[in-house]
Amino acid sequence: DKKITIAIDGFSSTGKSTLAKQLANYLGYVYVDTGAMYRAVAFFAMQNELISTEFFDKESLIKSLPSIKLQFKFNADLGFAEMYLNDVNVETEIRTIEVSRFVSKVAEVSEVRAKLVEQQKEMGKDKAIVMDGRDIGTVVFPEAELKIFMTSSAITRAKRRYDELVAKGDDVTFEEVLKNVEERDYIDTNREDSPLVMANDAVEIDNSYLNRKEQFDVVLELVNDTT
Ligand code: C5P
Repeated sequence: DKKITIAIDGFSSTGKSTLAKQLANYLGYVYVDTGAMYRAVAFFAMQNELISTEFFDKESLIKSLPSIKLQFKFNADLGFAEMYLNDVNVETEIRTIEVSRFVSKVAEVSEVRAKLVEQQKEMGKDKAIVMDGRDIGTVVFPEAELKIFMTSSAITRAKRRYDELVAKGDDVTFEEVLKNVEERDYIDTNREDSPLVMANDAVEIDNSYLNRKEQFDVVLELVNDTT
C-alpha cells in the first residue's frame, strides 16, 4: 500500500484529534497533534510569567524559543504519544482551560509558528502520518494526498470540550468554555500568519450530525480512494 500524508484541520473541539488518532491506529501511521505543541509553548510562557490576562512579553518569548525543546514520546499503555516540554511530561498541564485561554495569542507569533512548522515538516518527511491542527493542509503539508477540514457548530463543540473538562475534574462553566471556543475561533481565523482556512483541495466534514463511527467510515473511504 502507498503511504500517504493525511492533514486534518478545523476549528477547536471538532473531534479532530479523536478521528486522527483512530485513523492513525487503524492505518499503522504516526499521529501528531500539533495543537499540543502550541499548547506546550503557551504553558512555557505561563510558567515563565511571559503571558497573563494583562500582558504578553512577546519579545522575551521569541528570545527563549531556542531553549524550548518539544518532543512526543509514545506511551504504550495509553496508546498515544504524550507531549514533553524540556524533558518534562506536560500532557496534563497543557489541556487546562488556562492554557486554552492563552494558546491562540502565542500561536499568532510568526517566530513560534516557524519553529513548530519546521519540526512538523521534519516529523512528516517519511509520510505515513496523520497530523491535525489549523494550518496542516495549507502551510505544513500543502502537498498532502488527503486533506480533511472538520467543522461543527460552536455549541456542539463547546459541549464536547465542556464534557471533557468536567470529566477530568476541571471546575468550569459551560458559558466559559463556549466563550473560549468562540474566542479561539476568532483569533485563529483572523490572524495574519497562517490563519485557519480550508485548503482548496480539502474535503469538508461537518460532524454536528455524524457520530464517531460514521465520521471514521467517511474518512476511511476517502483514504481508500487515495491509496
Ligand atoms: O488543537 P488545539 O485546540 O489543541 O489547538 C490549540 C490552539 O493552538 C488553537 O486554538 C490554535 O490557536 C493553535 N494551533 C495553531 N496551529 C495548529 C494547531 C494549533 O495555531 N496547527
